[in-house]
Amino acid sequence: MEIPRDVYDVLADTRTVIAGDRVQIPFELGSALYKRVNNLLKEIGGRWDGRKAVRAHVFPFPVEEFMRACLATREFPSRYEQGWYPTPPRVVDEVLAHAGIRQGVSVLEPSAGTGSIVDPAVECGGIVDCVEIDERRIHILRERGTARQVIGADFLELDPLDCEDGYQRVVMNPPFSAAVRHVTHALGFLDDDGTLVAVMPRTVLLSGDPATVEFRELIALADGTFAPLPDESFAPSGTKVPAVLLVVDAERGGPLPTHGWLRRQPRQLDLFALA
Ligand SMILES: C[S@@+](CC[C@H](N)C(=O)[O-])C[C@H]1O[C@@H](n2cnc3c(N)ncnc32)[C@H](O)[C@@H]1O
Repeated sequence: MEIPRDVYDVLADTRTVIAGDRVQIPFELGSALYKRVNNLLKEIGGRWDGRKAVRAHVFPFPVEEFMRACLATREFPSRYEQGWYPTPPRVVDEVLAHAGIRQGVSVLEPSAGTGSIVDPAVECGGIVDCVEIDERRIHILRERGTARQVIGADFLELDPLDCEDGYQRVVMNPPFSAAVRHVTHALGFLDDDGTLVAVMPRTVLLSGDPATVEFRELIALADGTFAPLPDESFAPSGTKVPAVLLVVDAERGGPLPTHGWLRRQPRQLDLFALA
């Protein structure tokens, strides 16, 4: 999203200090402009710390390089574009109640944000690997140090067969704009007797888009369920998008294209290599 001209001028002003985890603006702004600058810094992940010794927007990641890149392109990644809506604690409880994570169970969280699901899954005893695309949130996840592995990558680009084993549980709240793609891809990381629990937009129940219809059919074949979450479940994260909870159990020989299923497919012969 484009950085508005007047906000850009404030951030690029030579008096503005952008260093470490802080952005400090040591000059007066009119209240309307201050509000716009504050909104953008909050959107990027900053929080105003008004203590005398600080008086700056403080970020939970090193903001300097990130901000320089934004200023160079005059754009910033908005949370809306990235589908960045942390899972509220009540929804996390619901996810975990269905996932049944116990001591030593392997878990994948493939769109991990800052770890709203990761941390409680670890508290349940899960051995959690997670994936996140955004460098700020990757930094936060690594700092927290709760997951066994934090993979900084586009999950949709990862090949399930690069993992030796499937995961016993996949728990996820993917970006809603591409939820069906994310969940379908995540099935390839699921163990043959694993369980996948995903928060998805309620439109997945109604959409006539061919990929969504095919997805619903697949889930029905596997006896999966979509349970509506209460309206306003995501209000604490700033959105009213209605959501459902998908719970589906895999089984060997079942219809889901799990990690084991992918492993069992014959390798495609490169016939042209023989020519
Ligand atoms: C709806 S938020 C949920 C975050 C986290 N699962 C939680 O429960 O709080 C979706 C997250 O997916 C990340 N994301 C979006 N596209 C992704 C991709 N292709 N690969 C990995 N992560 C992605 C976003 O950066 C964002 O942090």
